[in-house]
Amino acid sequence: MAHCLAPLLADPDISVYVETLKPVTPYPFPWPFFRFLDVFPETVYQDAPALQSLSLRGDEDFDLVILAYQVWFLSPALPMAAFMQSPEAARLLRGKPVVTLIACRNMWLMAQERMKQYLDGLGARLVDNIALTDQSGALASFITTPRWMFTGRREAFWGLPAAGVSETDLRGSARFGAAMAEALHAGPIAGPMLHGLGAAVVDERLIASERIGTRSFRLWGKLLRAAGPQGSARRRPLLAIYVCFLFCLIVTVVPLSMALRALLHPLVKRRLLVQKAYFEQPSGSATHHLSPNPQ
Ligand SMILES: Cc1cc2nc3c(=O)[nH]c(=O)nc-3n(C[C@H](O)[C@H](O)[C@H](O)COP(=O)(O)O)c2cc1C
Repeated sequence: MAHCLAPLLADPDISVYVETLKPVTPYPFPWPFFRFLDVFPETVYQDAPALQSLSLRGDEDFDLVILAYQVWFLSPALPMAAFMQSPEAARLLRGKPVVTLIACRNMWLMAQERMKQYLDGLGARLVDNIALTDQSGALASFITTPRWMFTGRREAFWGLPAAGVSETDLRGSARFGAAMAEALHAGPIAGPMLHGLGAAVVDERLIASERIGTRSFRLWGKLLRAAGPQGSARRRPLLAIYVCFLFCLIVTVVPLSMALRALLHPLVKRRLLVQKAYFEQPSGSATHHLSPNPQ
């Protein structure tokens, strides 16, 4: 976020207002194992937690709103869900151009679909989406992301890269801020500003997993919510069963479905490319405006 905002903050003609969402009960970091799992049902069903009062009233008139959020369990993280459901967001976002800025491991498609629903419901216009994903790739990040979440340690180890978005990608996101500053100087924001800057690259191999994952999450989320409220001891046995289920799924179904997908690829390639293009909207993954050595 800081790198992306830097060109806007440095511009004397642009004033930037930063609002940090603070839940009344803060989420821990690093996450205790069961606390991490325990936010799963509420995240999937977007049961928003209470937020501390915002410093914005909601009647401010911004030329552009940037919504930066993390993905939790294929959904917008709960602090962002709470904001999107707040009366302030309803007032603030109506008719406004919005850029979403995602930082996640690598699965953000379904979360962004949910954000699109929120924005549509509030009458806001999504003009661009930036998706920053983990540098370590799908397989390594199955190890590096949980290690980071549960221990707070993100450095490289055992030949695996460091967890999270790379420094190069973070620094490189200044290009998005620069493009937004340029567009703001040119007048009201009418449409995408970030074409050709590689803002949202979709890995089409993950589309099916995200769809299947979301369906399975809704089913398990419903069961877990029925077992007891967040924090209750009654949820724990079911959460433990769920973790075992997830683990079995990852070591059996995921490799199998990857092999099947590789086999079927020639048949479904065309359809996948159409879906990839859909999820990459509105900014797209093209890179023709990137400088050869982005910083
Ligand atoms: C509870 C929880 C669930 C998460 N679920 C997902 C997920 O479904 N997909 C994903 O790509 N990343 C997921 N992540 C990783 C986060 O999106 C994000 O990469 C991580 O929290 C680091 O964010 P930061 O770079 O803003 O510090 C999850 C993280 C947490 C804490």
